[in-house]
Amino acid sequence: MNVLGEYLTKSETETVLLGKKLAAELVESAVIAFVGELGSGKTTLIRAIAGALGADPLEVASPTFTIVNVYFGREPIYHIDLFRIKKPSEIDELGLWEIVDGDGISLIEWADRYPKLVPENAFWVSLSREGPNTRRIIIDLKRPVFKKGKNEIL
Ligand SMILES: Nc1ncnc2c1ncn2[C@@H]1O[C@H](COP(=O)(O)OP(=O)(O)OP(=O)(O)O)[C@@H](O)[C@H]1O
Ligand SMILES: [Mg+2]
Repeated sequence: MNVLGEYLTKSETETVLLGKKLAAELVESAVIAFVGELGSGKTTLIRAIAGALGADPLEVASPTFTIVNVYFGREPIYHIDLFRIKKPSEIDELGLWEIVDGDGISLIEWADRYPKLVPENAFWVSLSREGPNTRRIIIDLKRPVFKKGKNEIL
């Protein structure tokens, strides 16, 4: 797990390189949970990871309205965005538990909206804006400390 750690990327390109490095460490059915404000780079990183796993990066966009996008790489890649989820029953109705527990890679934006969905063995990636082109990116196996209830749905 040599990708774990804290990074400061100074351009989108540097974030893409980090995404490729992270993709190289993913085992089958891996889950990555992304936490970070609007525009912090969650989708940018996911695009890089999906591309490295054999999907077409041009297909990767935040599934804000659809909640889940699927891309086809060396295994299916589920791109989930919890931004618009309002209550846990929507998680059940969309079959997100089955997706996260099933085959394929799951990449979850706004995972702090519903951290219970994220399995124990997931990577947690926290992003923050440090400047127009600078992002602090922390990759960990532990859920980051975030203010309970800040983004979480009930
Ligand atoms: N170092 C950097 N790393 C990543 N993105 C960067 C960097 N510098 C600038 N950017 C820009 O920041 C924006 C990040 O947008 P992105 O859609 O990836 O964010 P997001 O976290 O998915 O936002 P949202 O919560 O709205 O889905 C892009 O326009 C990207 O070009
Ligand atoms: Mg996004």
